[in-house]
Amino acid sequence: MKITVVGTGHVGLVVGLCFAEIGHEVGCHDTDTAKIEALARGVTPFYEPHMDRLLQRNSERGRIRFFSDLEPHINDADVIFLCLGTPPLPNGEADLSSVEKVTRQIATHSRSYKLIVEKSTVPVLTGKRIHATMQIYGGSAPFDVASNPEFLSEGAAIHDFLHPQRTVIGVESERAEALLREIYDPILRQSFDCPIHEGCEWKGRSTPLVVTNRNSAEIIKHASNSFLATKISFINAIATLCEKVGADVEQVAAGMGLDSRIGPSFLRAGIGFGGFCFPKDLQAFCHIAEKNGYDFRLLREVERINQLQMEHFFQKIKNEVWVLKGKRIGAWGLAFKPDTDDVRFAPALAVIEKLLAEGATVAAYDPRAIKEACAALPSASHRIVYCQSAEQAASGADALVIFTEWQEFLCADFARIRESMARPLIIDGRNMFRPEEMRRRGFEYISVGRPQ
Ligand code: UDX
Repeated sequence: MKITVVGTGHVGLVVGLCFAEIGHEVGCHDTDTAKIEALARGVTPFYEPHMDRLLQRNSERGRIRFFSDLEPHINDADVIFLCLGTPPLPNGEADLSSVEKVTRQIATHSRSYKLIVEKSTVPVLTGKRIHATMQIYGGSAPFDVASNPEFLSEGAAIHDFLHPQRTVIGVESERAEALLREIYDPILRQSFDCPIHEGCEWKGRSTPLVVTNRNSAEIIKHASNSFLATKISFINAIATLCEKVGADVEQVAAGMGLDSRIGPSFLRAGIGFGGFCFPKDLQAFCHIAEKNGYDFRLLREVERINQLQMEHFFQKIKNEVWVLKGKRIGAWGLAFKPDTDDVRFAPALAVIEKLLAEGATVAAYDPRAIKEACAALPSASHRIVYCQSAEQAASGADALVIFTEWQEFLCADFARIRESMARPLIIDGRNMFRPEEMRRRGFEYISVGRPQ
């Protein structure tokens, strides 16, 4: 089937490539002409495992193409997926100006039936607004508006799209439901040849489809992300209590997670959550709830705990180092999580800015996110040293801080690192190591929620 994807960010580009991979003919639009030209040359704008290969395969097959002028392409396909950015406004409300603008363009240029599908995370009732906008600005062409939220995790986005734990569609007509069932059929039946795994275990295993109304589908997305963030803030609150009573949060989480009603995932204590989803979605969900008469105090507390977690971690560094002014602090990890170059709302940057404000010099290393971090911290560049290796970032440091749990840090040469540091102090924001093991290696080792 022909599909148009509007927006080639962390959602849209993955969606377009994966739709092409499972056999659809996809046109991807973005207003960023430089990004579109780069994609047409086979260059991806951000790192995501397997993305380069999917772009190459599907460009060679002629299944995907890119354009920066939308209006001439509005009638290329019956189904248009909106994968537009919905960043937070200063008051926390989602900025839906791009969604409204594109909806007006579709309304004024559509000459035949269109199914408009919300793929980006949008507040509940956005679909109703899109529907009204189509009626206001549109002509006689029929249309439907559906919700199809994504559940992609950065660093695993292509896997998550191709092998989803569930596909959710929120529809208001049988025609919209039938179209989305057809589009997702290869995913629902897992009938395609997986581009990621040889002998993929998912082949032929059906995946669940949730068919509901549009408002419920919109809520499912915000509620899912908010619940995951709540789990993280809960375990971080438990970590703070564990530090006060000498308990070990890793063992507490293990004991909790064995209960199938709780589960082990998203119970990893640490420096807090970042990324462009949880922080943004929590704010937007609180805002839309309040706008509809419900004060979501639970989620405001989830946000507050998360902010406090980063502040506590900074104080932990300060308490151990004492005077930060003039000190050299090694920083391992800048991205908000491993396997991505995304630094948006990254806890590392929030804490590094505090270290710099106290007069410390930061020697930072990240396997993929240095370029992004450099762009995100322009004013601080004179006292950040960006290093080419983990060892270089640790060399001469008065303390080494671990912000992101990149796999490669597990096999660092700690004997050499210990010798190279001004003080063998490691402050681990992701509990990557066992305290007794690091002390045996000769380090002072501080982590989160565990006896020091
Ligand atoms: C999240 C949701 O997982 C995904 O389903 C949704 O579609 C988009 O938002 P993402 O933001 O890419 O995905 O990353 P995720 O793996 O959820 O991690 C988010 C943040 O939480 C990261 O900063 C991570 O370090 C942190 N985290 C995660 C914890 O601190 N503890 C955990 O146990 C899990």
